Amino acid sequence: MTTDRKANMVQCEGPSRRDAWKMFDRVAHRYDLLNHLLSFGRDRAWRRKLAARLSHRPDQHILDVATGTADVILSLLDNSTRVSYAVGMDMAGGMLARAATKIADRKRRPAAALLRADACRLPFADRTFDAVTIAFGIRNVLDVSTALEEMYRVLKPGGRVLVLEFSLPEKRLVRRMYLLYFRKILPSVGGLISGDDYAYRYLNETVETFPCGRAFCDMLVEAGFANVNAVPQTFGVASIYQGDKPDNNFL
Ligand SMILES: C[S@@+](CC[C@H](N)C(=O)[O-])C[C@H]1O[C@@H](n2cnc3c(N)ncnc32)[C@H](O)[C@@H]1O
Repeated sequence: MTTDRKANMVQCEGPSRRDAWKMFDRVAHRYDLLNHLLSFGRDRAWRRKLAARLSHRPDQHILDVATGTADVILSLLDNSTRVSYAVGMDMAGGMLARAATKIADRKRRPAAALLRADACRLPFADRTFDAVTIAFGIRNVLDVSTALEEMYRVLKPGGRVLVLEFSLPEKRLVRRMYLLYFRKILPSVGGLISGDDYAYRYLNETVETFPCGRAFCDMLVEAGFANVNAVPQTFGVASIYQGDKPDNNFL
């Protein structure tokens, strides 16, 4: 392991991510409601912006890692004509069950499949997908570097990774207000509605200890991605990260 990679793993400390998915199973019944409520509805706009950053390749096959209740898949299929097929994977059976219901409820059945698997061991052959997405998921995996390397492996040459994740605003005043909300209000409201106090304390503790901005871009570069950039959303409370697997890389 390189020194940089060791440093990144240290930055991912905070609450243990081991089996974090079990907590999502517990809150699955309230997950969507709390997601929209606690982000003031911004999560929908962020997922639309993620869809807008797909490459111009037509007929794309997409893998959405840590798909949860499938909001990314549904947003990609609604907002991009370039997606022809999407696979969503997650470890939490309760989240996948809700994803399956949402997909089945669509008038026109989307071309999508769901499966239970670990982000650190993707059950796909090398060079399978045109794009890999992950929204609010990478922060929860046990070994972030391995998960990024797996995403790189299953991408076709020229394929794109898109990561949406919470980040910390750079402006001091905004950051202070955000931390006040994140540390005090969000855990209370989240705990009350979901009935799981730990889950929403875990949320703010993992966000505060997860590398964001330049530090996360460095992790993408370390995993092999090129053209890496970060686009802050809504005063920097979330960021969309993008990276491409080089066209000439057949590994
Ligand atoms: C905050 S939710 C995000 C769900 C969805 N992507 C969204 O945008 O709402 C995080 C998801 O990551 C999943 N997860 C956590 N660890 C995982 C792992 N090792 N492999 C796959 N999924 C994992 C959880 O089960 C949960 O559904």
